[in-house]
Amino acid sequence: MNEQAVRPGVSFVCPVYNKEAYLEAVCAAMAAQEGGFDREFIFVDDGSRDRSVEVVRDVTREVRLEQMRKDFVANASHELRSPLTVISGYVDELAEDRALAPEWREPVADMRRQAQRMREIVEDLLELSRLESGERPPQWEEVLPSEIVEDVVASFAGLAGRRSIVLTRSSHSAPAVITDADRLRRVMENLVENAIKYTPEGGRVEIVAGPGSDAGTVLEVRDNGPGIATEHLPRIFERFYRVDKARSRELGGTGLGLAIVKHLAEGMGASVTVASEPGKGTVFTVVVPAGAEHASGARPAS
Ligand SMILES: Nc1ncnc2c1ncn2[C@@H]1O[C@H](COP(=O)(O)OP(=O)(O)OP(=O)(O)O)[C@@H](O)[C@H]1O
Ligand SMILES: [Mg+2]
Repeated sequence: MNEQAVRPGVSFVCPVYNKEAYLEAVCAAMAAQEGGFDREFIFVDDGSRDRSVEVVRDVTREVRLEQMRKDFVANASHELRSPLTVISGYVDELAEDRALAPEWREPVADMRRQAQRMREIVEDLLELSRLESGERPPQWEEVLPSEIVEDVVASFAGLAGRRSIVLTRSSHSAPAVITDADRLRRVMENLVENAIKYTPEGGRVEIVAGPGSDAGTVLEVRDNGPGIATEHLPRIFERFYRVDKARSRELGGTGLGLAIVKHLAEGMGASVTVASEPGKGTVFTVVVPAGAEHASGARPAS
């Protein structure tokens, strides 16, 4: 194998004549690296031999940088937590102080809101860091999707009512799955909260649960709100990505909700996708596998 292949950041092309010797060389090179390789095979049929060319890209540097980014976010959020709690505590006291001069009431109320917002951002970032580090594995149990849907509808009935949104559900034929109930509930809460938040007053939000392929279940959150333009769709699961920053901020959003949703879902083997038509509405689809392989550690749904 080409020695240069193990130098960080180097891409190289290696002709392969003897597959076994080649694989041995790649395994040895990979074992010697902390990071990893991106590999792509291009098969060349020269008519005489079983021959291929592999393009290997050493991604050790990217893996390290990504780890540094994760550590930085986790550490910075952690360090910000205590000072923010102290500031919030004093601002709360100040806001409730009857002796506060009238001209300070509005600024202090604003400080209180902003401090609360900062605390929510820090908590969301810490949550993302925990999910990324995999420090809390999913708690497998048998879950009836209809129960989750019922809980979520009950939690959001008040908010939907205040915004004159009709919130409905249908979940009769969704089979039980082995998954993490708490995570699935949080995924659905985030999606339903968004649907209610971004749909104008008088709109409709519907939660539908039904059978998926391979004995799993599919949960959908549909709304008839403003929709999301195609160019934004690939990015809305990124951290801090908001389609309409001003409007989202005004509604109290930081753009971390869907990033958390994606991590929560992927951490339990589920997937979340979005389809939307501007002016017509948005559908978020969560596909939850049956999870039979986790059955031994699962508790029955209570
Ligand atoms: N149902 C929806 N209809 C229209 N736009 C949506 C919908 N759901 C999400 N979006 C858009 O995707 C963006 C990202 O959503 P996300 O939940 O990550 O952030 P947020 O709601 O702004 O803030 P947070 O959830 O952190 O409070 C939102 O700002 C909004 O622009
Ligand atoms: Mg949100």
